[in-house]
Amino acid sequence: MTEGISGAITEPITGAIPPWRPLLRAAVQREGRSVAARWVQLATTGRDGAPRVRTLVFRGWASADQLELFSDQRSEKVTELANDGAAELCWLFPKARQQYRLRGQVTLITATEQPELCQQRWQKLSNTGRAVWGWPTPADPLDSTAAFPDQLAETAPLPEHFVVLRLQVISVERLNLGPHPHQRARWSADTLWQEQPLNP
Ligand SMILES: Cc1cc2nc3c(=O)[nH]c(=O)nc-3n(C[C@H](O)[C@H](O)[C@H](O)COP(=O)(O)O)c2cc1C
Repeated sequence: MTEGISGAITEPITGAIPPWRPLLRAAVQREGRSVAARWVQLATTGRDGAPRVRTLVFRGWASADQLELFSDQRSEKVTELANDGAAELCWLFPKARQQYRLRGQVTLITATEQPELCQQRWQKLSNTGRAVWGWPTPADPLDSTAAFPDQLAETAPLPEHFVVLRLQVISVERLNLGPHPHQRARWSADTLWQEQPLNP
């Protein structure tokens, strides 16, 4: 076990760490104890071809260039990603005044396919973090008679709709508003993460 950039525990990191990872880690660290430092915006393509975006919690690194998010298999984004795994994450760091955009392909890891991995991730969550998976189907009309637990214990059975989203990063863009002029750079897996400075 090792530590992800924000302290999240992930599996051992294999492969060379791409050059943008230490920069991203430094930006996360500048946010201090802010929970928002782990909030990312995930953009997908809707089933109607229109863009969709929402906030998710960054959960850690599965490898040098694969990051993990957790979600609910019943949610629209998971249907979209099962159809087309292409996605982009936008990660904003207000203190560092930096924006990262991570583009890639999402693989869904379900509790049926990899029960041990999902169980390990499930147990790592806090009781309040787990609770949302105990709620009724997201985006259905509100059922005020349904149970919405505020806690789920570590011993609660792994829900079959718990899903790990693994983003295989293929390119990264960083915009740094700190210096004048602003700095913008891109790294791509297909050029072995060689840095390409760009006009801001
Ligand atoms: C701060 C914050 C963190 C969130 N974290 C997650 C998360 O880790 N996983 C998740 O599936 N939804 C998370 N959500 C809820 C999503 O933004 C979204 O509302 C929900 O997943 C339904 O999205 P969809 O209809 O596009 O599938 C979070 C929302 C906020 C505001």
